[in-house]
Amino acid sequence: MSDLSYDPWSPAFVADPYPAFEELRAERPVFFHEPTSQWVISRYEDVNALLRDRRLGRTYLHVAGHEEFGQRPEAEFLKPFWDLIRAGMLDVEPPTHTRLRRLVSKAFTARMVEGLRPMIRRLAGDLAGALAAKGGGDLLAEVAEPLPVNVIAEMLGVPAEDRSLLRPWSADICGMYELNPPEEAQRTAVRAAVEFSDYLRALARTRRDEPRDDLITALTQVVDEGDRLTEDELIGTCVLLLNAGHEATVNATGNGWWSLFRNPGELERLRGDLSLVPTAVEELLRYDTPAPMFERWVLEDITVAGVDIPRGAEVALQFASANRDPEVFADPDRLDLARDPNPHITFGLGIHYCLGAPLARIELAESYSALLSAAPRLRLAAEPKWKPGYVLRGLESLQVEC
Ligand code: HEM
Repeated sequence: MSDLSYDPWSPAFVADPYPAFEELRAERPVFFHEPTSQWVISRYEDVNALLRDRRLGRTYLHVAGHEEFGQRPEAEFLKPFWDLIRAGMLDVEPPTHTRLRRLVSKAFTARMVEGLRPMIRRLAGDLAGALAAKGGGDLLAEVAEPLPVNVIAEMLGVPAEDRSLLRPWSADICGMYELNPPEEAQRTAVRAAVEFSDYLRALARTRRDEPRDDLITALTQVVDEGDRLTEDELIGTCVLLLNAGHEATVNATGNGWWSLFRNPGELERLRGDLSLVPTAVEELLRYDTPAPMFERWVLEDITVAGVDIPRGAEVALQFASANRDPEVFADPDRLDLARDPNPHITFGLGIHYCLGAPLARIELAESYSALLSAAPRLRLAAEPKWKPGYVLRGLESLQVEC
């Protein structure tokens, strides 16, 4: 078998990576992919174990310099981007990660998230109702995007008139997370990082002077045993929450509906029994994983399924493949909206486990329920196209009729 079956730049692979993963899991569950210089890991057991293994990290900078890890020093022009990203918890490791996650968790509580449910239900109902009233449109642009963008903005306290700025900034920043991004995309990401932080710095200062009942205010006030977030950490956290808080949810909604349209029997089953929504949310997250791959640096030599991987290497953990592993999921290519148990790893595992998983679950449940109720005959109007990127894998648009 050649490496070509795993081709994250090929539109065919992006549209349907699952046959390639089936082959990889069976024949080469751990292999080195030259074009990305990454070790590709495709079995559930291995992905699961590596996510919990402290010999790997999302960064190596807490233990080594770029040179030691065989990497070129970062270009000077990227500094504003990396300063911003490394001020949030996702791209740091303990002890900094432990400290940031503890502080942010004190403001981003389960109670606060559950308290958002009525607002999310109202918003989902309004968006679904508007789509149904005009007989259809682009489900992605008209429901999947505005719901999580407005929820996260509302939660943080970004004024309504500024919200249209968020998605372009976030999309530009996320361009850096695609594999081997071109320099133009890197420069765009830096520009967005600077503009986004300037905007949030001004907003955070306003909230510090005039506190409100929102998460930015709470983050400016949070104190844990005398420790608090610095201003840079506060800004890094807001950017992380605003980006992580909607990118994957938009794609999860679009991919989820596309899965339902391709499985009309299951869609009918759900329409007939809305009590299936909670297990349907989990199954749709498993069946077509919106964030299909996460990377880790190898901080100490490891052996995975008998293959030695040295310190300094990078692994690409294929969540989408793990979620279709027949060793864990019976009949994994079948969409079963009542699947239970469903130990998918779409929200990750270990210390970086998605902080927003409870919020994402509420948003998805409310948006599926709202659309199923407002548009009981919702159907596909045109075959959708995928956006080119594999790392943030989602549809360009999803045209529907009601
Ligand atoms: C369907 C939607 C979502 C998916 C599939 C998803 C997936 C993930 C995954 C896989 C990780 C861990 C990455 C890794 O281990 O390398 C993660 C981390 C994170 N997510 Fe989510 N996420 C979603 C929605 C959200 C939402 C709504 C929020 C916030 C409001 C959020 C905030 C975060 C944060 C802050 C982290 C970093 C946690 C840490 O480093 O400790 N996510 N997410």
